[in-house]
Amino acid sequence: MKFLAFCCTVFSIVLVALAHPQPSPRSNNASYPELQALVKGNQKYLKKMNSQHPGLLKDLAINGQHPPFVLFHCSDSRVSDALIFSELPGNLFTAVNIANQFLEDDVASTSVVGYAVEHLHVKHVILMGHYGCGGVQAAIVPPPSNPGPADVALQTWIQPIRDVYGNSTRKEIVDFRNGAGKQLNSSSTLDLQLPAFRALVEENVKASVQRVVESQIMQEDFTSSPDTPVFIHGLVYDIETGKVFDLRVSQGPPGVQAPVVPFPIVD
Ligand SMILES: *[C@@H]1O[C@H](CO)[C@@H](O)[C@H](O)[C@H]1NC(C)=O
Ligand SMILES: *[C@@H]1O[C@H](CO)[C@@H](O)[C@H](O)[C@H]1NC(C)=O
Ligand SMILES: *[C@@H]1O[C@H](CO)[C@@H](O)[C@H](O)[C@H]1NC(C)=O
Ligand SMILES: [Zn+2]
Repeated sequence: MKFLAFCCTVFSIVLVALAHPQPSPRSNNASYPELQALVKGNQKYLKKMNSQHPGLLKDLAINGQHPPFVLFHCSDSRVSDALIFSELPGNLFTAVNIANQFLEDDVASTSVVGYAVEHLHVKHVILMGHYGCGGVQAAIVPPPSNPGPADVALQTWIQPIRDVYGNSTRKEIVDFRNGAGKQLNSSSTLDLQLPAFRALVEENVKASVQRVVESQIMQEDFTSSPDTPVFIHGLVYDIETGKVFDLRVSQGPPGVQAPVVPFPIVD
């Protein structure tokens, strides 16, 4: 009986499929110059790598990667790690997400740090935020009142930043939170230069630095590999000027002085 039911189901599915043949994809002859640009860009990259760094790609492919850094930065298209640091392939192991967060209950975060520290033996974990971050702005303005699926995903992801905003004792943030911040609605946009906005970008980086330091992975590494200390640093990138600043929040294993990343300190 069960078998018969199964056969009938399969048979009806086949019938339905026959009655509704998959439409063949409509030919799309519109021109998409942005797609053509990807191909052109890759050709340019190949030319450059072959003339300026011959053999590098092959060497990396054969001998593997040995990056000294793992870098967390924002998905924002204005924050391009290789360009900002003039880095070649093989030097930056990266995790990219909205508002550059390390969260211990996010396996994307922990797997990147875990692999980088335990298998690639990176020396530095760098968290880099950027001014004008849309993810940070979204954590300052109220959430939308009728959230769709995209809103729910984003709001869930940025909740830790909203918590930093709500709890921060930093003057710029407290003043704004108790003042002009009360007038915001979910579609408000914030000025790139707004002191509270800039401050929250920085505090968000510091929160992730602290989370990395306190994570099980780092705590375990601190105790198991005291001779190869890993340092955690917080940077911020100015999308307007292209400059990088150091937040002077570097940390290492207990009792080990962390080196300063020699960028100017943010003021
Ligand atoms: C669109 O492109 C397809 C495949 O390149 C071609 O066969 C077809 O004739 C084109 N149609 C038009 C309207 O240009
Ligand atoms: C402060 O942070 C905690 C989580 O650490 C959060 O539950 C709480 O809502 C935050 N407070 C405010 C006012 O945002
Ligand atoms: C949201 O606030 C902005 C000012 O920040 C205002 O121009 C806009 O009309 C407000 N939108 C709604 C839906 O209240
Ligand atoms: Zn961002």
